[in-house]
Amino acid sequence: MRQAGRYLPEYRELRARAGGFLDLCYTPDLATEVTLQPIRRFDLDAAILFSDILVVPHALGQHVGFVEGEGPRLEPVSSRAEFGRLRGEIDLEMLSPVYETVRRVRAELTPDKALIGFCGAPYTVATYMVAGRGGDEQAPARLLAYRDPDTFAELIERLVEASAAHLLAQLESGADAVQIFDSWSGDLPPDEFTRWSTEPIKALCERVRAKAPDAKILAFPRGAGAKLAGFAREVPANAFGLATSEDLRAARAAVPAGVALQGAVDPLALMAGGAPLDRAVDRVIEELGEGPLVVNLGHGVRQHTPPEHVAQLVARVRRSR
Ligand code: CP3
Repeated sequence: MRQAGRYLPEYRELRARAGGFLDLCYTPDLATEVTLQPIRRFDLDAAILFSDILVVPHALGQHVGFVEGEGPRLEPVSSRAEFGRLRGEIDLEMLSPVYETVRRVRAELTPDKALIGFCGAPYTVATYMVAGRGGDEQAPARLLAYRDPDTFAELIERLVEASAAHLLAQLESGADAVQIFDSWSGDLPPDEFTRWSTEPIKALCERVRAKAPDAKILAFPRGAGAKLAGFAREVPANAFGLATSEDLRAARAAVPAGVALQGAVDPLALMAGGAPLDRAVDRVIEELGEGPLVVNLGHGVRQHTPPEHVAQLVARVRRSR
């Protein structure tokens, strides 16, 4: 996850040429190149499409921008009236450059490399749509969910529909699997987690599978902790992503047999490199390696990570095979 990005000098160079971050996402030539940069540099088994979870609200008609050094800024949707100004359905035409990027990347990758498409989970995307930004424990979205659950539920439902269409378009364009990132639901109390994370992601998987029965889906309920078992019972994903904070043996026990787990090397161990990184990789393999495992980070590569440390991680994983 987030294997491209500002820790790579070749990314920074291309990003400077592209202008805005969204321009980079919507220019197939450049987005293809950025997707392939980590694959060229490191012998990874899969590429993740270069795009962002916020292209979905953008294609629902919300104003989305990225401010240098600060992150995403959206025009907040915090009332029924503001919600009413969005499109009823996602404008897939607007996202056609993303699907063109998927086709180009798939054509350039060798058959042994997988291409992963993605979207944000409805809850995580809703937190940005409501607050207009990240941070503050997603308080504006959580307040709206308590004060006006009907409006929040409608927003979530619209995101389920829109995200299903977006994932299906990526699968039709050649993505081998799709990942659903729920970066912020881990903080929710159990009942709210069931309502706003588990149920919408389950509905999203079902809607994708209704049209693409064999779709390979990875679900990443970041920081679900003890709530993972209930989540994995309900959500029909092929794999579950684990954050750095998870108890890995408990997570293995929490998912049905034969289901893959993905994670959970600490991005800060990656930044540190050396022996701590080797230990972090070994621990993931030792604690999760008895079942199907995708070695990955527990969250994205951080900005000041030396690229050589990613090479070290890959070498350590290969050595253990
Ligand atoms: O390898 C890849 O880079 C894959 C593409 C990818 C990006 N964002 C590109 C990106 C993926 C899979 C994402 C997912 C994403 N985006 C999530 C879910 C995963 C997670 O990290 O929790 C979320 C919450 C977002 C929203 C988002 N996009 C934020 C909060 C930010 C700002 C944070 C930052 O590091 O600046 C972004 C910007 C963003 N998306 C960058 C990249 C490479 C950095 C922007 C830049 O180049 O200036």
